[in-house]
Amino acid sequence: MPIAASISSKISTPHLEVQGDCILSGELKVSGAKNSALVLMAASLLTEEKLQLQNVPELTDIDVMGNILLTMGVKLKQWKDEMHIDASELHHVELPYELVHGLRASFFCIGPLLARLGQAKIPLPGGCEIGARPVLEHIRGLKALGAFINVEHGVVTASVPGTQKRLKGAEIVLDCPSVGATETILMAAVLAEGHSSIENAAQEPEVQDLSKLLNSMGAKISGAGGPKITIEGVKHLHGCDYKVIPDRIEAGTFLIAAAITRSNLSVAPVIPEHLNSLLQKLRDCGCTLEINKESIHINPGEIKGIDITTQPFPGFPTDLQAPFMALMTTAKGTSVITEKIYENRMKHVAELQRMGASIRVQGNTAVIEGVPQLSAAPVHGGDLRSTAAMVLASLSARGNSQVEGLNHLDRGYASLEEKLNSAGAHIIRH
Ligand code: EPZ
Repeated sequence: MPIAASISSKISTPHLEVQGDCILSGELKVSGAKNSALVLMAASLLTEEKLQLQNVPELTDIDVMGNILLTMGVKLKQWKDEMHIDASELHHVELPYELVHGLRASFFCIGPLLARLGQAKIPLPGGCEIGARPVLEHIRGLKALGAFINVEHGVVTASVPGTQKRLKGAEIVLDCPSVGATETILMAAVLAEGHSSIENAAQEPEVQDLSKLLNSMGAKISGAGGPKITIEGVKHLHGCDYKVIPDRIEAGTFLIAAAITRSNLSVAPVIPEHLNSLLQKLRDCGCTLEINKESIHINPGEIKGIDITTQPFPGFPTDLQAPFMALMTTAKGTSVITEKIYENRMKHVAELQRMGASIRVQGNTAVIEGVPQLSAAPVHGGDLRSTAAMVLASLSARGNSQVEGLNHLDRGYASLEEKLNSAGAHIIRH
């Protein structure tokens, strides 16, 4: 029996068997953005009218969010990438710990519940594999809008005082440009009385997508995508039919897959301006890119080591740090990768080292000396993006690897192995 098969047959946990020395070709299809769809689903709580979402990715995180909405009395149906949500009979304002602990994004429901029903009881999401991920900014913003908030026994209990149970507009300055806090405050402020503003707001495309959805529902928001967002409160939001933006992190992961396997490849659909910082780094390290309206073609040359530091948008996205580090392990020369967003997002280093990568880590900085090629090994992904990085490393390695951590991978990548196999990879899910 070939070695790979014998190793694979020994690994009992679900894993991908990835054939190395892979060359990709053709086009990789990008699904809707996980980090947009999740918050748009929470925004459905703001209206009693029907919300239809197109281009919703088929992911386990989306399934969990759907279950959370169902427990609150929301009616929800999904057919492939189309989702219909009806929150007209929203009655429940308390979320179960076991669901919230499984999906941090469920905390996004607190803003809409306060805005729509004047109360919410949501367990603190707590930390995850990549960091503590506090929600103090979310709570500070809701308090500024007039909510009473008590945090006890790991549960956030929030209510809106007064007979009308209506939040009041406020001017809020965030301590850090938190994506989730910006989105939570946006969803609370749209139904508040009067004017609100958010300074030092997160500028990520997913924040812009939420703002576009809310304005399609009748909200009055301007400035999303910039550092200051203003909101004029309205009394009511109506339903609408809305298409989720393409997932820039999946698209970026695919572009890096092309670079690490030195493959000519197209990736579509994309919104190129959502990827500018990655595109610049891919050019800097030796790739030629053809940017079209909704697709990008990548032609890697000799890849050389370059430095990256993760930043809030429009800087280099933290969610692409692990995949890009996999690329740098076989670049010519040295690269320095600094993680500035999360305190524990270097889980992939030890696994890449097991494949022969030469990496030294000091704090949140990794120094990578490129090697000619990685060698296949059984490896484990410790979080969503680290697992994606291990798949990319395995595609380029000598021999067949086994990648564990599919529970993480399936949260954020829809049908990853089917998509890669359609472009020439040989990956089997066991
Ligand atoms: C969103 O998380 C994304 N998740 C993350 O994607 C992404 O990495 C992150 O934004 C940054 O781009 C979703 O949208 C569902 P933050 P979020 O609040 O909103 C600190 C993935 O892989 N912070 O902008 O939780 C926090 O600790 C996931 O798809 C505070 O200090 O991110 C972190 O260090 C991972 N206090 C930094 O800000 C607060 O009150 C960024 O967090 C809030 C955040």
